[in-house]
Amino acid sequence: QGTIVKDVTLKEDAPKNFLMSKHIEYIANYGANKEDYEYCMTEYLRLSGIYWGLTAVDLMHCRDRMNENEIVEFVVSCQKDCGGFGPAPDHDPSILYTLSAIQVLCMLDKVEKIDVEKAVDFIGGLQNEDGSFSGDEWGEVDTRFSFCAVTALSLVGRLWENCPINVAKTVEFILSCMNFDGGFGCRPGSESHSGQIYCCVGALSVLGELHHVDDDLLGWWLCERQLPSGGLNGRPEKMPDVCYSWWLSSLAMLGKLHWIDGSKLKQFILASQDDEIGGIADRPGDMVDPFHTLFGIAGLSLLGETCLKPINPVYCMPQDVLDRIGVKAQILP
Ligand code: FPP
Ligand code: ZN
Repeated sequence: QGTIVKDVTLKEDAPKNFLMSKHIEYIANYGANKEDYEYCMTEYLRLSGIYWGLTAVDLMHCRDRMNENEIVEFVVSCQKDCGGFGPAPDHDPSILYTLSAIQVLCMLDKVEKIDVEKAVDFIGGLQNEDGSFSGDEWGEVDTRFSFCAVTALSLVGRLWENCPINVAKTVEFILSCMNFDGGFGCRPGSESHSGQIYCCVGALSVLGELHHVDDDLLGWWLCERQLPSGGLNGRPEKMPDVCYSWWLSSLAMLGKLHWIDGSKLKQFILASQDDEIGGIADRPGDMVDPFHTLFGIAGLSLLGETCLKPINPVYCMPQDVLDRIGVKAQILP
């Protein structure tokens, strides 16, 4: 019995060119009507939504299409007394939205508008004895949260100076989630998943600890995620999904992006565009959303699309922003 391949077939009339101006309109107009059903239903992740939209338009050289003052005011209003950020003012704080808040303010060069000291305390307070991180006060542990802690602290310059976490323990916990196939899961013993691999390899890259990764073994597992359609799945036997074009950026951190067929992946991402309203879906023919629009565009930038700004494979932010604040992550040659 062989491995089951679940895939899609790209249609002859699927979009083949990058529809940049349509995507700019789609993102710039998203949320223009605050009563819109979809907009209201996504309030529980608003702050990350702002990060996805802002990053996408910035990569498309159109950050000025976003209302910067409104965004900064909103981000500031999401910080809680404990220092963490919720997705919107009336929601509970989590390390996920705390990272999004810091990413957005770094892109807008407005980090001084929030209480950085309290945000740093919030992140430090989420580390557990074994080096893992909880996402919020309820305690769920996941390697995604280790990534958020490490990247957020590095963006505000608190990873190497005045650091509130135990870095050696952080690395130790991430390595305890490494599997026989070279990949990583969300906790020790959990199956390998591209998204978690992105988080674990990303955190190790920020910490300069990539030498712990079996880059050949993991590189193989990652490039086997590419399906005949050109799209990538996140685990064996799963359908391809545009967002995995981004979670795969760990392959770029390992210096092995050429191990996949970049032009076929590009075709898959382009075929997932909506040529009427703009935006990108998880796969051809599905409804578009800001999340898949960012990760499709980010994937195209990683693949070298020249009309986009170059993206950093770890932070999923334009490289020029990281150069401005002087943040570097390790990339294997
Ligand atoms: C799959 O999600 C993706 C992940 C597990 C990675 C998530 C990464 C973060 C939250 C870190 C912040 C990200 C950036 C870009 C700065 P899923 O739950 O949709 O997986 P599924 O496809 O298996 O359902
Ligand atoms: Zn997806």
